[in-house]
Order: sequence, then C-alpha cells, then structure tokens
Amino acid sequence: MIDRIVNSKSDNELENDDSLIENTLRPKDFNSYIGQDRLKDNLKLAIAAAQKRNEQLDHVLLYGPPGLGKTTMASVIANEMNAQIRITSGPAVERPGDLASLLTNLSDGDILFIDEIHRLHRTVEEVLYTAMEDFKLDIMIGKGPSARSLRLDLPHFTIIGATTRSGAIAAPLRDRFGLVHRLDFYTIPQIEAIINRAAKILNVKIESSAANILAVRSRLTPRISNRLLKRVRDFADINGDGIIDSDTAYKALELLDIDELGLDPTDRLLLATIIDNYNGGPVGVETLAAITAEERTTIEDMIEPYLLQIGLLERTPRGRKVTSKSYIHLGKINNQDNNQASLI
Ligand code: ADE
Repeated sequence: MIDRIVNSKSDNELENDDSLIENTLRPKDFNSYIGQDRLKDNLKLAIAAAQKRNEQLDHVLLYGPPGLGKTTMASVIANEMNAQIRITSGPAVERPGDLASLLTNLSDGDILFIDEIHRLHRTVEEVLYTAMEDFKLDIMIGKGPSARSLRLDLPHFTIIGATTRSGAIAAPLRDRFGLVHRLDFYTIPQIEAIINRAAKILNVKIESSAANILAVRSRLTPRISNRLLKRVRDFADINGDGIIDSDTAYKALELLDIDELGLDPTDRLLLATIIDNYNGGPVGVETLAAITAEERTTIEDMIEPYLLQIGLLERTPRGRKVTSKSYIHLGKINNQDNNQASLI
C-alpha cells in the first residue's frame, strides 16, 4: 500500500533503490532546486511560519504536467521541515481502512505524500476530509444494527497531494489544502542549468553547446532532460570518448527520433493526423485517441500540455486544432490559409 517510505533525515533506504540515479539527481533542498521560483518563495514563507509557530505545515496541493518535479518538491519540503515523508498514491489507497492505517501510523509533523490524488476512491476521499480538517478519523465498527461510529484523534500531519489534473479534484478536497500551486514548464536556460547540474553529479563532461541542444529538445521538462542526458551519455561512451559535444548530441537525438522541438514520433503522428485527416481540426480527443492508439488521458496529460505550451496545438470547445506553426514544423501545406487567401 505504501509504495516507498523515505526518511528525509537519512538516505539509507535509498541505497537499495532501483532508481538510484533518479534519486541521486533529485535536488534535496530549495537551494539546489532550479526553477519554480514563485512556488519556492511561497513554500519558504509557509515553512518558516510553521516552524516559528512550532506547527505542522498546512496541506499542500501541487498540480501540473508530469515530470516537472512535484514528487521532488514534496521531498524537498520534507527535508526543509526536517520531517519524515511517507509516499503513496491515489490508486494504492483502495479502502478507507487503508487510509486509516496510513494515518494512524504517522507522527506529529510527518508528511504524507499522495501522488495522483485525483484517483483516490470517493469513500477514501470522504474519510480524508475530517482527517485533514480536524485531525480526527471517523470509522465504522461492525455492520448492520450494531454498527457504531468511532472517532479517533490523529497526529498533526501534513498532506502533500500531487495531480496532473486539478480539474478532476472534487471541490471539498481541494478546499482543504491551504497551499495550492501549479508547477509551470521550465525555461530553456533553467533546463540547461538542470542538465549541467545532472552532468556534474553523474561525472559526465558536456560542452555548453551540447547542453543547449539537449535543453531545447527536452520539452521544458526536467524528467525528460535527465533521461536524454543519460541516453546521450550512453552514446558518447560507446561511440566516442565519453565527452558529450554537439555532434554526439545531434547523433544521439537522431537515433532517438527526437526532432528540433523535442517532438517524438507520437507527437508528430498526432499533429500530422489532425492536418491530413481533419484539415487541421477541430477534432475530438476521443478520435485522436483511437487514431494514435493512446489513452485519452495519455493525450490530455502527457502529450498535449507541451504542444499547447509551445503553440503547436490549440484547444477549442469543438476539439483540438493545429496552428500554422504545426504546418511549418511538419513541412505541410496549410489548405485552410490557401482557402482563405482565395476568398479574399
Ligand atoms: N532535477 C530534476 N528537477 C530538478 C530541478 N528542478 N532542479 C535541479 N535539479 C533537478
């Protein structure tokens, strides 16, 4: 039920973790966390205030596209609060009893991180309301006429919830978070700094021109820049002298089939389908899901946000539309513009 338990005061448990590299690259405090400056400023203030009053931090809801560092930020908060963090996810907490056992095992000041909090079961969510608000747990003992309700005191904990879809969170749950923040896409200079930091930690030599090439193709997302860095490092180790220069970066990205805007074959298929089959759109997301053989939620949560961010795609009430930038990027003729031009 608990996916991972991480004691932020000691990293011993991380030693056996499969994703050791991922954890090595994760910044541990605000100083080493690059970007999301407004979020960091708000959190620093809330943490300083909580510490001054000797209270637990207010509950925090972090939302935004995947890979932007919600989980990382949760562990940074725990570290900065010198608190223990327990990590679980919405789908992992199947029944109210699961939540009850998680909450009753916490201590004062602990943080419970719930990833994909929008996927919590309704019955679990309802138990969470009073737990978050009053630090009380209402549980039913027994069944039928002899059933009784019992109210237990809980330790004063902090919930950090993370979600890719803030719209999918019921208002009563959302209202119980004192801090609600969106993580934004990073800028290219920030991604470059994240790549250089990761390269230093991994002891890889990367030229600044190559760091820029990777940054431009990382979809403004640290998880992707770190992944690309590792793949390009493989390429440099096997086909070169281990140093990542621009030539190595270009060749490795070519092999990965990632283009100059960071698009992969699925992104390009999605855009090309809207252009070729629907004259640029609008087209419903369900239709796109069927054509690309991706889940609707994969399109909405993983693929679209970056395409919207860089202005290749638009959302309209009638569906998705590509922009003229998409036509230019894919080297396609824009018939809509031609039609308009012939009408003038
Ligand atoms: N690695 C992944 N995300 C990071 C960030 N925001 N700052 C520094 N290193 C990172």
